[in-house]
Amino acid sequence: MSKGIFITMEGPDGSGKSTQIALLSEYLKENGYDVIITREPGGTRISEKIREIILNKEYQEMNPMTELMLYASARAQLVNEVIGPSIEEGKAVISDRFVDSSVVYQGIARGLGIETVYSVNAHAIGKYVPQVTFLLDLPAEEGIRRKKNQAELDRMELESIEFHKKVAEGYRTLADRDPERIVKIDASLPIDEICDMIKVKVKGIIE
Ligand code: TYD
Repeated sequence: MSKGIFITMEGPDGSGKSTQIALLSEYLKENGYDVIITREPGGTRISEKIREIILNKEYQEMNPMTELMLYASARAQLVNEVIGPSIEEGKAVISDRFVDSSVVYQGIARGLGIETVYSVNAHAIGKYVPQVTFLLDLPAEEGIRRKKNQAELDRMELESIEFHKKVAEGYRTLADRDPERIVKIDASLPIDEICDMIKVKVKGIIE
């Protein structure tokens, strides 16, 4: 049985994560992996319910600490029900967002602090840390522009441009602090170029 792997995809809203996840999934399947794709917040029956609460744009009064803990609750369920067991079974798990999103959105952009985010999330993620994280880097304005073209904006997407700028900047800071794990890629490059960069890095892990 192959050894399980855990890869996460991060980036501001509208950075093109889902397209790259689909392409990476094909690549891993070609290399003999059973692939499990998850998204955060969500990915289990309970976590999807929590997602509905978090992203509901009517809940403008949501306290940042409540927000942090709801994301962590959704994550705890996903890790215990899907991510952990899949990795133990030797599968490849690709998650659309993970704890780095909380670090950036709640820790940096909301201002709760990185340490607070890690301490709350330690209980949710246990030993599961991604082997590699791809950061699809995009200016905040461009991400929001792309999203507006797609669908109605949710509670997080409706945040101010200043908030989204803090998110984009926060991701870059995180990538600079942990260059071994986080691979920053310019999300404005053509899809196949981004995909090739991702494959090169993943090849190094699976071989
Ligand atoms: P989603 O529709 O999944 O956004 P995207 O397609 O951009 O991934 O919505 C998730 C939103 O929640 C997104 O705005 C980022 C935010 N978020 C946090 O603030 N903290 C978190 O821990 C996670 C996982 C997401």
